[in-house]
Amino acid sequence: MSETLTITDNRTGKQYEVAITDGTIRAADLREIKVSEEDFGLMSYDPAFKNTASCRSAITLIDGERGILRYRGYPIEQLAEQSSFLEVAYLLLNGELPTADEHAKWVDEITHHTYIHEYLTKSMDGYRYDAHPMGMMVSFLGALSTFYESSKEVRNPAVRREHIIKIIAKMPTLAAWTFRHSTGRPYIYPDNELSYTGNFLNMLFRMAEPKYEPHPVLERALDVLFILHADHEQNCSANSARAVGSAETDPYCSLAAAAAALYGPLHGGANEAVLRMLKQIGHIDNVPEFIQACKDRKHRLMGFGHRVYKNYDPRARVIKTLAHDVFKVTGRNPLIDIALELETIALNDEFFVERKLYPNVDFYSGLIYQSMGFPTTMFPVLFAIPRAAGWLAQWQEMITDKEQKIARPRQIYIGHDERDYVPLDQRTQSAS
Ligand code: ACO
Repeated sequence: MSETLTITDNRTGKQYEVAITDGTIRAADLREIKVSEEDFGLMSYDPAFKNTASCRSAITLIDGERGILRYRGYPIEQLAEQSSFLEVAYLLLNGELPTADEHAKWVDEITHHTYIHEYLTKSMDGYRYDAHPMGMMVSFLGALSTFYESSKEVRNPAVRREHIIKIIAKMPTLAAWTFRHSTGRPYIYPDNELSYTGNFLNMLFRMAEPKYEPHPVLERALDVLFILHADHEQNCSANSARAVGSAETDPYCSLAAAAAALYGPLHGGANEAVLRMLKQIGHIDNVPEFIQACKDRKHRLMGFGHRVYKNYDPRARVIKTLAHDVFKVTGRNPLIDIALELETIALNDEFFVERKLYPNVDFYSGLIYQSMGFPTTMFPVLFAIPRAAGWLAQWQEMITDKEQKIARPRQIYIGHDERDYVPLDQRTQSAS
């Protein structure tokens, strides 16, 4: 069997043979297909990149039909059960799990870069008390680049490593301090004796106690949530990190762009929408009526369905178990009963079964965050902390990929042909 595609151009009657590699053809090969010598050549049109592979990647695999998510080949379920977020971050960035020595060094390095420059701390005071924490995160990530001039040397592996460590280390500090700012509480400095998530909880919630002791169940739950959110291949924010980074922009500004993409309600905001929906339903008795309204297309069942997963979002299964562990400590979130009832009814309803609509990662995560004391505005920030590891892995893979160049799509121009400038006093046509 020949791994090629034969194309007949009916405009000219000419035939072309294009190589098929890994189930794809190279869009650049289409440029050979021309009606004349002056013709630019054929292009593919793919708004929103729905059927275009923009890179070759060895980081994350999603098989939506089979409900599979793997980081560097390791199933997400095994990582969630046996690994830690920092180990997973190492895996995503380096391709292999660390040895014991590598792990110790990695954790030590991250732990010793958690402080942020005091000038940046001062700039936090310039934000209003009700500033959205995610807006603050986006700007702090960009602002960090101004403290690290060397980060511009993106082609230098040692420099890249230095700033990757700094970013992973500082994300929880920035995130916690946006929360402290919005609650008017003093910023809490990192405690190097605590774990990555233990220290994060310390910077979020410590008050007058001399030594903060994170609850081990909540510390572990947050770590598992971080593992589940660490990467998800070429999503909107990873693509933003790659596209901006392809201009050789430093990693801080590339990640600011990625965080800005995550801020959008179609990307990082669905768990907030789930909470709003559960509150709106209000009581378990109202669930059947709500489900019927979904079927009548009056609204969507938030936290259900996924563009890629058409079997089950494997992260949702882990999160559901985690939610029960957290509620044993925090007390049962009263909205969980509504969520469980929605899930039970929807999973047995033909409308949802036929369309392969299952709970996604966001269906339960918001309930956990709320029970742990986070306001909904913090949800995208909680997503951004672990996803920084994925963004950095994607960014680094792009920088070291010899085939990649500055990301620069083509367009189909549909505007005016050339026309002459009309002086102001002679214009009759208005754009509106
Ligand atoms: N509730 C009710 N019906 C739904 C839902 C839902 N949540 N999701 C999809 N459908 C229906 C659609 O009406 C459509 O039905 P039809 O074919 O009869 O018209 C069919 O299922 C297919 O829906 P699409 O919108 O074509 O699916 P798509 O893959 O484009 O959308 C998406 C995926 C955006 C996630 C969608 O399922 C949705 O809006 N879900 C709710 C929001 C949500 O939970 N988003 C978080 C996703 S996970 C994440 O980003 C981290």
